[in-house]
Amino acid sequence: MQKLSIHGGVPLSGEVRVAGAKNAALPILAASLLTAEPLRLWNVPELNDTRTMVKLLQRMGVSAHVSPGAVELEAANITEPYAPYDLVKTMRASILALGPLVARFGDARVSLPGGCAIGERPVDLHIKGLEAMGASVTIESGNIHATAKKLKGARIFMDTVTVTGTENLMMAACLADGETLLENAAREPEIVDLAQCLIAMGARISGQGTDVIRVQGVAALHGATHAIMPDRIEAGTFLCAAAATRGNVTLTNAPVSSLDPVIDKLREAGAKVHVNGTTLRLEMARRPYAVGIRTSPHPGFPTDMQAQFLAMNTVADGTSVVTETIFENRFMHVQELRRLGARIDIEGNTAIVRGNDKLTGTTVMATDLRASASLVIAGLMAEGETIVDRIYHLDRGYERLEARLGALGARIRRVD
Ligand code: EPZ
Repeated sequence: MQKLSIHGGVPLSGEVRVAGAKNAALPILAASLLTAEPLRLWNVPELNDTRTMVKLLQRMGVSAHVSPGAVELEAANITEPYAPYDLVKTMRASILALGPLVARFGDARVSLPGGCAIGERPVDLHIKGLEAMGASVTIESGNIHATAKKLKGARIFMDTVTVTGTENLMMAACLADGETLLENAAREPEIVDLAQCLIAMGARISGQGTDVIRVQGVAALHGATHAIMPDRIEAGTFLCAAAATRGNVTLTNAPVSSLDPVIDKLREAGAKVHVNGTTLRLEMARRPYAVGIRTSPHPGFPTDMQAQFLAMNTVADGTSVVTETIFENRFMHVQELRRLGARIDIEGNTAIVRGNDKLTGTTVMATDLRASASLVIAGLMAEGETIVDRIYHLDRGYERLEARLGALGARIRRVD
């Protein structure tokens, strides 16, 4: 089991390039299933999750050529339209194969994703939307089995805003007969990036980025080339680490337009953030002010940044209230932060954080992807050595994080 050893107290400084977005790459990789022609992708982040998605596609018969930061996929001969449990259980985003497979082949089986650390995470809205388009869906020995002669466009209202639900149905609708309306659709920037890629493949989509997405089905999609957008959550994580260590860090290739809620909160915490095109520079000369956080779907404050800001709040000047409205169990990092000396009380989906003047390093355990990032940020601030265990969680969504933090001056190394 690999761990990270961090000696805190060093203000981060220097420049880091933001990598491609995991949560854009995963649906876009799955979109390769929608055409028999090659889909060439650039700026693909090199993560365990993207490697798992490519492996899943290859299992189905997709040919994949992977080179540094690029992937070329060709789904000309799908032999096995099935996403098995052994892969789905390691990555819930495998569900994104369901829509494309049933839309193009009329038959798809995807293992029902179990729950995960942060919540039950049902996929009922994915299934309900496909049924609205005429698919018949059954659950057979742990697999979702969807069949349809030909999907038909439908008006679909999603009663909960769901990111991958919107992505799955938007992809399926591309090859349905007629027009599909997705109402109460998720508005995340990654959905816009997926839509741009689908449009490059010949799809007819409008409204992406708003809560009503309109798709006119077409007979077939063709190949395309697409560059994955930069990762706003990775960018936010680096900015949080810079602010928490009172550093001075420049991000290049940053998705500035999708970082408003994060930049706004960092400024409220007392950071100076200078924007120049896709270059962002943050400098923090003082102890952060405590900032209140309430997560909500985009364009609100992203749930994937909640744990990182909560970590910064543990040493802030003042008391803060952090409310998690998206997932029912996304405070797993709290008991680990308490081990470092943080003073946090949980009441339902709200954490009350009383700022300490310092944290003290010890061994902590990562439980999920963003909780891991939160513990790394805490370790960068804490006095002495912090060991973060089970960092396979971190490797799912951050590319070479310790090397890139090290390049910013952090005393951090991976140990077996
Ligand atoms: C996506 O997950 C992201 N993952 C998550 O990022 C992110 O936290 C989440 O969106 C919210 O922004 C990817 O894009 C691969 P949801 P997703 O469906 O799509 C409920 C990370 O750290 N719901 O938007 O699975 C659900 O229970 C990961 O990178 C239903 O009830 O999230 C949750 O309460 C973690 N029925 C809420 O909606 C459904 O059919 C939002 O979930 C689907 C969802």
